[in-house]
Amino acid sequence: MSSPGLLLLLLLLLSPRPLQPSLLPPPDTPEGKATITGLILSALERATSFLKKRLPEINLDGVVGFRVLEVQLKGVQEKWAWDPQVQPLGLRAGKLAEKLAPLLHRSIFYLNLSDPKYLREFQPAIEPGFWKLPHIWTRTRASMVYSTFEQQDSFSEEHSDLCLVQLLGTGTNSSQPCRLSDFCKTLMTRPGCSGYCLSHQLLFFLSARMRGCTKGLFRQSQRYMNLFCANMMDLNRRAEAIGYAYPTRDLFMENIMFCGIGGFSDFYKLRWLEAILSWQKPQEGCFGKPAAEDEELPKAIQYQQHLLRRVKRREKQFTDGCSSHNTAMAVAALGGFISVLAELPPADGELRPPTPTPPSSH
Ligand SMILES: *[C@@H]1O[C@H](CO)[C@@H](O)[C@H](O)[C@H]1NC(C)=O
Ligand SMILES: *[C@@H]1O[C@H](CO)[C@@H](O)[C@H](O)[C@H]1NC(C)=O
Repeated sequence: MSSPGLLLLLLLLLSPRPLQPSLLPPPDTPEGKATITGLILSALERATSFLKKRLPEINLDGVVGFRVLEVQLKGVQEKWAWDPQVQPLGLRAGKLAEKLAPLLHRSIFYLNLSDPKYLREFQPAIEPGFWKLPHIWTRTRASMVYSTFEQQDSFSEEHSDLCLVQLLGTGTNSSQPCRLSDFCKTLMTRPGCSGYCLSHQLLFFLSARMRGCTKGLFRQSQRYMNLFCANMMDLNRRAEAIGYAYPTRDLFMENIMFCGIGGFSDFYKLRWLEAILSWQKPQEGCFGKPAAEDEELPKAIQYQQHLLRRVKRREKQFTDGCSSHNTAMAVAALGGFISVLAELPPADGELRPPTPTPPSSH
């Protein structure tokens, strides 16, 4: 992790928000850090109970989110193993990760029963070891935000899936991973996307990084990721500006999950954490449709929602309003917040640059 990135991250987490007083304590004291981490872990433990209860119904995206969480929890456990002040929290994170592993294994068994072809195609993305934490942090740049977003949302989940399968090299006719058709190159780099079109462009380059693709188009991976996450940040700010109207929340959390894993630290804002924590259903432990949702929204908000539109992709909405996809995005976003808290230097009143983390092992 680079120190300038870390310092920015700390400043972000500490930046005062006079308009919206935070209920969370500042994370710059050991107590504050422990309190926030404890709150997040409690939320994640409840979400894991939801996973356990609904295991046969969890879809593939759900498994991806919890798989990412597993990696984040293990990272925290390792980081905090030697610090007596936070070691108990690290152990608690580790215990949760150990609980997740067999659950995910079973859930893959169910996915294999319901849709073996789909599972085979995306299997690499749910295997342990695919997702890796960022080791270099950066931030988004507002100068890269598109002047206009495409009005026509031509995002097709089928096309996006097809290109991911090409990338992973798991199709029936696939030769090797990282090989792309011109169609996919064009689709995945098309400018002006918003909503899920944009987040899937980022997911594509993120998956390429995890898969180890570095040639051809992927020489430009970082440049595209900078571009996409700058725009995803813009969309998240819009979602915040309209009070996180329910249909925008899923994408909002997906953007934090993907760009967070991509190493963009400015997605970890304390006030965003607070919002996400408040969306969890206390009874079920899941995330999804709020109990009482206002049906009539002002026109301006409807327009913003258009840009933030959610596609009914692989979505699984349970009768109690719980959503598999929502919950998965939430846990991976929340897991990112703990990872980032664990990256903060020991808070003893002095800001010390952290020791650089060794490069990841791929
Ligand atoms: C799915 O089931 C098939 C047939 O039983 C089996 O050969 C395959 O290994 C299973 N795949 C996974 C990922 O469990
Ligand atoms: C795979 O290749 C075979 C032979 O080239 C072809 O007949 C088939 O349609 C291809 N399948 C797909 C899914 O592209």
